[in-house]
Amino acid sequence: MVTVDNLTIRYGAHTALANVNLQIRAKEIFAIIGPANAGKSSFLCAINRMDALRPGMSVSGDILFNGINVRQWRNVYALRRQIGVVFPLPVGLPMTIYDNVALAPRLSGQSLTKADLDALVERCLRRAALWDEVKDRLHSLGSLLSGGQQQRLTIARALAQEPQLLMLDEFSIAVDPVTTMRIEEILRTLQQEMTIILVTNLVQQAARLAQRTAFFLNGACIEVGDTETIFSGQSQDPRTRDYLEGKFG
Ligand SMILES: Nc1ncnc2c1ncn2[C@@H]1O[C@H](COP(=O)(O)OP(=O)(O)O)[C@@H](O)[C@H]1O
Ligand SMILES: [Mg+2]
Repeated sequence: MVTVDNLTIRYGAHTALANVNLQIRAKEIFAIIGPANAGKSSFLCAINRMDALRPGMSVSGDILFNGINVRQWRNVYALRRQIGVVFPLPVGLPMTIYDNVALAPRLSGQSLTKADLDALVERCLRRAALWDEVKDRLHSLGSLLSGGQQQRLTIARALAQEPQLLMLDEFSIAVDPVTTMRIEEILRTLQQEMTIILVTNLVQQAARLAQRTAFFLNGACIEVGDTETIFSGQSQDPRTRDYLEGKFG
C-alpha cells in the first residue's frame, strides 16, 4: 500500500531521516519503534504531506501510496482524506463531540442528510469504543472529556473520513494504561478494514500489535522485519537488540 523509496528528509542543513526504503502492506499493522529524534514523526509527515506543520522540512525520494507518488496528488486534501492521523496529544477541536466527528464529512462536500450524518457519527464513535460513554452528551464540548476519551475522540474523527490508512504517532503518551489497552483492541478490529502505521514509544506495544516492525535510530531505518523475528532475539542489527533490551532510548 505504501512504498518508500530512498526517502530523505531534511530541515535546512540537518538530515532528520536518510535513505529509507521500505514497504507497508495492505491491512497490516506496521510498527515504527525507536528513541526520540530518530525521525519517526518526520516519516509520518512525509507520507501524508504534512510538511506545512514542519517549517523548513524538505523531502526527497519517492513515496507511493496505492502506486501513486504522494507528490503527484494535485489536491493534498484528497490525499489526506485517505490517510487518518492520530497525534500523541489529543488535538481536540473547540467544538462539540458531535461536531468533532462530523467536521471532515461536512467539509468533504458530500451532501449528507442529518440522518446520514447522525449515523456516521454514531458508527465512528462506536468504532472508537467511545459511543456508550458519550451518547447522552454529543452536543457538549469535546474538551470536557477525559484525556483518554479525547484520544478516542481523535480516533473517531480520523475514521470519519473513511481512511484506507491510519497513522498513529505515540498515541498512548498522554493516556492511562487502561485506555491504551482499549485503543489497542480498537486497532486490532480496525485492521480488518484498513492499514495501520503505529509509531510507538512502547516496544511491547509493537510486539502485541504489529505484524512487522521497523527500528529507526538517529535518522536511519536500522532494520525492518517480522515483529516475531525482531522480538525473538533474531534481529539483524545489534543496535536493535540493545534497544529492545532497554540498553538505551
Ligand atoms: N521543524 C523542525 N525543524 C528543525 N528540525 C526538526 C524539526 N522537526 C524535527 N526536527 C529534527 O528532526 C529529527 C527527527 O525528528 P522527529 O521526526 O520529530 O523524530 P521522532 O519523532 O523520532 O522523535 C530530530 O533531530 C529533530 O530535532
Ligand atoms: Mg515523534
